[in-house]
Amino acid sequence: MATIRDVAKEAGLSTGTISKALSHPEKVTKKNLVKIEAAIKKLNYKPNMLAQKFRSKQSNTIVVMVPDIANLFFAKVISGIESVAQQEGYNVLLGDTKDSADREKDFIRMVETRLADGLVNLRPYKASDSLLPKKGVPAVNASSSIHTPYCSVRIDNVGAAEKVVNHLISLGHKKIGVISGLADNPHSVDRMQGYKQALAKANIDFDPQIVIEGDFNYWSGLSAAEQFCQMKDRPTAIFCMNDEMAIAAMRGFIDKGLEIPGDISITGFDDMDVSKYVVPTLTTVSQPAEKMGERSAELLFNMIQDKPILVDDHILPYEFVIRESTAPPR
Ligand code: RIB
Repeated sequence: MATIRDVAKEAGLSTGTISKALSHPEKVTKKNLVKIEAAIKKLNYKPNMLAQKFRSKQSNTIVVMVPDIANLFFAKVISGIESVAQQEGYNVLLGDTKDSADREKDFIRMVETRLADGLVNLRPYKASDSLLPKKGVPAVNASSSIHTPYCSVRIDNVGAAEKVVNHLISLGHKKIGVISGLADNPHSVDRMQGYKQALAKANIDFDPQIVIEGDFNYWSGLSAAEQFCQMKDRPTAIFCMNDEMAIAAMRGFIDKGLEIPGDISITGFDDMDVSKYVVPTLTTVSQPAEKMGERSAELLFNMIQDKPILVDDHILPYEFVIRESTAPPR
C-alpha cells in the first residue's frame, strides 16, 4: 500500500506539502495540487482518514501515561516531556495508570476522541499488549524496549546490563546475584539477557537460585536482601535492576551487619540524584531520563505537526558510573 512518503516522492514534494494538500488544499498552489493529484491517482493512495481528522482540530493537550508516578526515573522523564510541551504551548495531562490496562484504555481513548492531540507512554511495550493507539494517532513510547511496534525512545538495556555485570566479573566476582523487576517487565527481560550474556562470556554458569524477583520498588529490594542473607552460600555481589531496589538492598544488608562493598558489592540502574549521596555511593547505569522525555516529546510534536519521522527506534546513549558500592570480593 502506498504511503504519504511514496506520494511525496512521486510528486517531487515534501510529505508536509502532501499532508497540507489533504487537509487544507486551499493553502497549496494549483501547480502542486495537480502534481499531487496525479501521484495519488498513479499510486492509488488512500489517505488515513483518522490521521486527517486529527489534523483538523487541536486540543493543545498531550497525555502522558505513567505506570508508577512515585518512581523517580519516571519523574525525570516527565520533567523532560513537560519542558518541551511548555515551549510548544501545550498542556500535559498526567495519567497515573498504576499499571492498569483499564486506565490505559481510558487515556488512549482521550486521544482517539480528540480530547488530547497525542500520547506519550512511559510503560515499556510488552508483546502481550492488546492496547495500542490506533494507526494515525500520534503516540510515542518514552522508555521502551527492543521490539516496540511504534515510535519509541530507549537505551540499550541489554548492553548496559552486560557492562555492569562485566565490571563485577572484572573485580573477581563469580557468584553474582540479581534483584530483578517483575519478570514480565520488558526492562527486566532485557537486563536479564545482558546479565546472562556477561556470565556466558566469562564461562560462569547461570544459577536461577540467586535471582530474586522484585518489582522495581524499595520494599522488594529490602525483602530480597533479607532472602540473600538467609542463603548459606551468599553471592559476593548483587546486580539490582534499578537504584531504588539497590538502595533498599544496601539498607537491608547494612542492617544485618554486612559491609558494602567489603562483604557484598551492589550495583543499581537509573542513576537517581540520590545515588551519588547515599553511603556508600552507588555504582550504576546513568539513564538520560530527562533527555528521553525531551526526545519523546519532540517526536510527538513532529507527528502532531505532521513532520516526517524517519526512524521509529531511538536509542540514546547511557553512561556506566563506577562509585563506592563495588570492590573486589574479600
Ligand atoms: O519500571 C521502573 C524502572 O524501569 C525504572 O526504575 C527504570 O529503570 C525503568 O527503566
